[in-house]
Amino acid sequence: MTKPHPAAPWLPVLRESLGPDGYLDQAGDLEPFLSDWRKLYRGSTPLVALPATTAEVASVVRLCAEYRVPIVPHGGNTSYCGGATPSESGAEVVLSLRRLNRVREVDTANYSVTVEAGCILARLQEAAEEAGRYFPMSLGSEGSCTVGGNLSTNAGGTAVLRYGMMRDLVLGLEVVLPDGRILDQLRCLRKDNTGYDLKQLFIGAEGSLGVITAACLKLFPRPAAHATAMVGLNSVADAVTLLGRLRDAVGDAVVTFELIPAAALELVGRHIDSVHLPFEMPPPFCVLMELALPAPDSDLVARLEALLGSGLESGLLCDAVLADSLARREQLWKLRESIPEAQTREGASLKHDISLPTSALPGFMAEAVPLVDSIIPAARVIAYGHLGDGNLHFNVSPPTNTEAADFLEQGPALKRAVHDLVKARGGSFSAEHGIGRLKVGELERYEDPVALSLMRQLKQSLDPLGIMNPGKVLA
Ligand code: MLT
Ligand code: ZN
Repeated sequence: MTKPHPAAPWLPVLRESLGPDGYLDQAGDLEPFLSDWRKLYRGSTPLVALPATTAEVASVVRLCAEYRVPIVPHGGNTSYCGGATPSESGAEVVLSLRRLNRVREVDTANYSVTVEAGCILARLQEAAEEAGRYFPMSLGSEGSCTVGGNLSTNAGGTAVLRYGMMRDLVLGLEVVLPDGRILDQLRCLRKDNTGYDLKQLFIGAEGSLGVITAACLKLFPRPAAHATAMVGLNSVADAVTLLGRLRDAVGDAVVTFELIPAAALELVGRHIDSVHLPFEMPPPFCVLMELALPAPDSDLVARLEALLGSGLESGLLCDAVLADSLARREQLWKLRESIPEAQTREGASLKHDISLPTSALPGFMAEAVPLVDSIIPAARVIAYGHLGDGNLHFNVSPPTNTEAADFLEQGPALKRAVHDLVKARGGSFSAEHGIGRLKVGELERYEDPVALSLMRQLKQSLDPLGIMNPGKVLA
């Protein structure tokens, strides 16, 4: 695909159809759309479309289909895999959903909300809160990521253990198909067994099958009681045992169970201002846990305290800090939420977003850490994250005093070894960050051939012109 001639016939047609507020085409304005958040890719585009209604999205897509112009849907630009960045060809139009951002309706009695794709996740959380309800999806990037992006990547976050991933929170969807037709599945029903569940096709498809324009999402009762703690442990196996004990004791009240290795806390302490490290002698691993219940329960903190007390007595835990105020709770959360930024400030890192059955994580770690060391001696494994979901961000920082370029050269060999091990143990090489452009080759390598050919058939039948986010998910 070559860059369009400045006089390409579709450019004025698109401008005309969008109106003066409906697009950007000046170099300075286009800039924020040209690279991804991690700065892995840099592309180019002649125009960013800014439709403000579903009908306008449909008309952009129809025109693009007519002129065979590829479209790159764009939300808050927080993809970890370059899913929303145009290619270098300069021939693709970026379709930003940022003006399609209304909360259309909160139905408190139905515990549901209908919201447009460009709505910022934090705004949706606020709208639920204002209506006395709760939207549970919570991510580090919630102040800038959009609902459309969360849906398109099937986002995870820190409350999946209790509420599930984005896919699990969807009741209905509105999608503009690659030929410009609007698929209206915006039903707010918890029970609806009417044939194939088409909406699920578009969740996690990263804009490769159509453009999600709105969704009806589940709301929940607002948690009224919280108990938050950080504990120190000697091993990942002990953390898994603790999770089992917690769930046995308080069931679904366990919302968050996040692993933080000592190396991650060390980075946070070094790079992030005003954090309070919880333990004088950092244990090999910490877990940030949060329990929550919808009904006020003054006992919840006491119950957690008792559980932690017996964990300390039995030697399962080596230390524990219970948040005794909102400020303390926020401090503990800040430690967890600052890890990605601390690792970025530390410099180069090689990231793997893996998942396994939670029960298989201790065995995986026992094999993976020496494996990393055999490929990059003295590299620092910083495997942190959503242990309760079986999902670790198995990130690797270079040995101290190593040139970033020398370290990054080992990236492909390391990735191959880590992902082969994950595959051998029945896991996934992309737990919550998606495929985007970054992991297209990994999908081809690790996906079951029958599944891969079905995916290609679906892509071909929904998007025969291949205009929807080309080069993402599938080659
Ligand atoms: C997180 O859980 O912090 C994010 O998914 C980001 C990361 O992979 O570092
Ligand atoms: Zn994560």
